[in-house]
Amino acid sequence: MAWRNMISGESKLPEKVMILDTTLRDGEQTPGVALTIDAKMEIAKALDELGVDVIEAGFPIVSRGEEEAVKRIVKENLDAEICVLARADRRDIDKALECDVDWIHIFIATSNIHLTHKLKMTREEVLKKIEEAITYAKDHGVVVHFSAEDATRTDLEFLVKVFKVAEESGADSVDIPDTVGFAIPIVMKKIVSKVRENVKIPVAVHCHDDMGLAVANSLAGVEAGAEIVHVTINGIGERAGNASLEEVVVSLHTLYGVKTNVKLEKIYELSRLVEKLTEIIVPKNKAIVGENAFSHESGIHVHGVISSPETYEPIDPSIVGRNRKIIIGKHSGRHSIEELSKQFGIRLTSEQTLKVLMEVKKKCDQGIKMTETEFLKIIEEVCGKEVFKKPVDIRGILVENTLDKSIAILSLNEPNNKLYFGVGRNQLEAFLEIFKQILMEEKGAEVKDYKIWFAQKPKGYSESEVILSVNGLEFIGRGVHPDPYIAFAQAFINAFIQSMQRGGANG
Ligand code: KIV
Ligand code: ZN
Repeated sequence: MAWRNMISGESKLPEKVMILDTTLRDGEQTPGVALTIDAKMEIAKALDELGVDVIEAGFPIVSRGEEEAVKRIVKENLDAEICVLARADRRDIDKALECDVDWIHIFIATSNIHLTHKLKMTREEVLKKIEEAITYAKDHGVVVHFSAEDATRTDLEFLVKVFKVAEESGADSVDIPDTVGFAIPIVMKKIVSKVRENVKIPVAVHCHDDMGLAVANSLAGVEAGAEIVHVTINGIGERAGNASLEEVVVSLHTLYGVKTNVKLEKIYELSRLVEKLTEIIVPKNKAIVGENAFSHESGIHVHGVISSPETYEPIDPSIVGRNRKIIIGKHSGRHSIEELSKQFGIRLTSEQTLKVLMEVKKKCDQGIKMTETEFLKIIEEVCGKEVFKKPVDIRGILVENTLDKSIAILSLNEPNNKLYFGVGRNQLEAFLEIFKQILMEEKGAEVKDYKIWFAQKPKGYSESEVILSVNGLEFIGRGVHPDPYIAFAQAFINAFIQSMQRGGANG
């Protein structure tokens, strides 16, 4: 149910929008992020598989490594157009041309603030630079995308003049950057409309999230007819970041009925890759890709989604490559208890369900953090071992650090009753090594994918989550413990028990 028809009179929605992903350029400008060439290549290939139309691969004048990364991405012959950033300056454009890219994204600032305090140029000088730079690049046969940096704080009449000069000089498309996230949706709509009235080439929007409006402003741009949207995976970028690909694209498809070439089901996988390689942690409550985006705790909501998912889910999580999660807590109702029990292969009577629910609430009221470990303990205690006995449990854990590596030892209880050793560059890696071994031995399967999220909480406990992807089925386990490595191991065991009960691989 997109809103397309309802807003048809007020908007100029295009049928389809081109996605220019700038994770590897503006995204990499996130303070503290510097990707290796290999990491950039990996992300570029994944972006291509995702289906973005243009990959802004870097700003080659910045460093030798950046130039090399762009050149290697170009050599991959991906389906996406490869674009690089260049100032309106021959040196930058020459460097971009050396990289043999399809698109050059030429920019120069146009607001009085930037002209006075940064460029120290007059408007006429800026217009001349634009004309020279675009003509020069076009003479070399590349596609030119032109941005007027700080466009949303630029005098609108001058901005129109800037874009007219760009068009007359041969630019193939123009972009309206909201460089410091200063626009509001209605203003973005007005600016895009005004520019579109004056130029014939496609118009793009590039929005920053300083006020948390990057996605709203990008969508407002599309409502006014923008046909290209600049985005980054997980919304990473300068300061508060850029408009996030996942939010823009899913909104376009779901809320507006506007198509893109993005394969939605690959979004989550790529979000996690970017999270891992940039080490910029995605907040739990982030739309679409955050850990909680498809999690339900409250009894009313769990009951709703079990009866009919659309009650509390705007989209089916699998559309974006995710699974629904039922979290047990003080707000739970009996449906949550039944659902989570089922995930562990346990069938409870309604009387048992109620008893477990009461115990869960009692423990939560005492401030005990509810995880699957605690939940299974309650089931064992309340219903007896004949209803559920953990098929595998942790007996002990030991971690030792040497100067350059960590060694972890994990012992499991009966019936497995084994000791496992793992070595890694850090304690986490050492444990991961063990988990991979257990999964391989016990299930004959590999850990195809995993996610670890653990943080030291102010109250003195750590929380961890492990996702096992075993032969196409995903199993999510959570652990909470004052010792972060026990929390991590618990999370693994909880995911592992589910995989044993629910037929992943040999289970
Ligand atoms: O935010 C910005 O203005 C930019 C330009 C280089 C397009 O990233
Ligand atoms: Zn930017």
